[in-house]
Amino acid sequence: MEAQIPCQRDLFDLPDDVAYLNCAYMSPLLKRAVQLGAEGIARKARPWTISPADFFTDSERARGLFAELVGATAEDIALVPSASYGLAIAAANLPFAEGRRILVLADQFPSNVYTWRELAAGTGGEVVTVARPADGDWTAAILARLDQRVAIAALPHCHWTDGGLIDLVAVGARCREVGSALVIDATQSLGALPLDLAAVRPDYLVCAGYKWLLGPYSLGYLYIAPRHQDGRPLEQNWIARAGSDDFARLIDYQDRYQPGARRFDMGERSNVALLPAGIAALEQLLRWGQAAIAGTLAARNAGIVERAAALGMRAIPVHLRAGHFVGLRLPGGAPAGLPERLAKEQVYVSLRGDSVRVTPHLYNNDADVDRLFGVLERAL
Ligand SMILES: Cc1ncc(COP(=O)(O)O)c(C=O)c1O
Repeated sequence: MEAQIPCQRDLFDLPDDVAYLNCAYMSPLLKRAVQLGAEGIARKARPWTISPADFFTDSERARGLFAELVGATAEDIALVPSASYGLAIAAANLPFAEGRRILVLADQFPSNVYTWRELAAGTGGEVVTVARPADGDWTAAILARLDQRVAIAALPHCHWTDGGLIDLVAVGARCREVGSALVIDATQSLGALPLDLAAVRPDYLVCAGYKWLLGPYSLGYLYIAPRHQDGRPLEQNWIARAGSDDFARLIDYQDRYQPGARRFDMGERSNVALLPAGIAALEQLLRWGQAAIAGTLAARNAGIVERAAALGMRAIPVHLRAGHFVGLRLPGGAPAGLPERLAKEQVYVSLRGDSVRVTPHLYNNDADVDRLFGVLERAL
């Protein structure tokens, strides 16, 4: 077992009287990311300090760091503004035809549902929803629906409402057996739940950067398997073309793109504020190590689940749940206004579906958890 990481609150700007247990909503930025982001935006006040080389350096650094985190190469990564943008690239490029199916989960995050409804509606295909399994075993429920009719399985690594875990290695193997593509939305997992890319072998994997990647809003990442890297980007941006580093020759229009997945980068990807902040976050995640983060958060959450059980709140059993992610359910549902009542006392969690979602990170301490249960004990 990995050693536990001690509390990292000092690296964040969290007041002592705030119990922020809501990383799945939006992580706080590291102080260092705030500083670098602020320095970056200040450079735009002095544009002569931004050189043509700066349009490439930080983009490549961010691409490389995300590649390291996910176990790919920089060639495989595109910079995207959102999960939905990455999913739109997958939807625009995967073969799909009338009568075929796209598999999603019940209550899946809407960006990863609307995209596929749109594709199905335009082609005469069908979105098929895997019902929430009574025994909590999503993997078995997915495998039962994953047959030759499925052309695209569009799935997360864990459910965004309660952390229900999906064995993506098993799902990836079945996808290859039945000839389905696998598109993963890792927004609620990557950074805190390691994924073995070489074993899962997805076609596309997208991750918004502002939750478990601890990055700024509007900077995310898309892994594209090498077999799809000659596909069609959503935009035809100047920087995605060959030779775009020679600013004097940009009007020597080029049919060729930059190598690898770079052609899929969002327009104006070279953001002087967002990229340095995102880089600082990815560097810190790599320093801690994803396995150690996962182990530390799993231990923190085991304590939360145990205390919640004493109040009659139930989480999915640990072997069917991502360790970093807890959704707590009450038999009669959460009392109205519970998150607001908690927020009044500076305790922050989310209500998603019928789950009280509690998602701490390394900045949380025992006092935060005590504050949570102090309010819950009075409220329930
Ligand atoms: C599973 C999941 N995917 C994606 C997102 C964000 O989507 P987008 O980047 O399209 O806004 C969220 C936000 O809560 C999420 O929970």
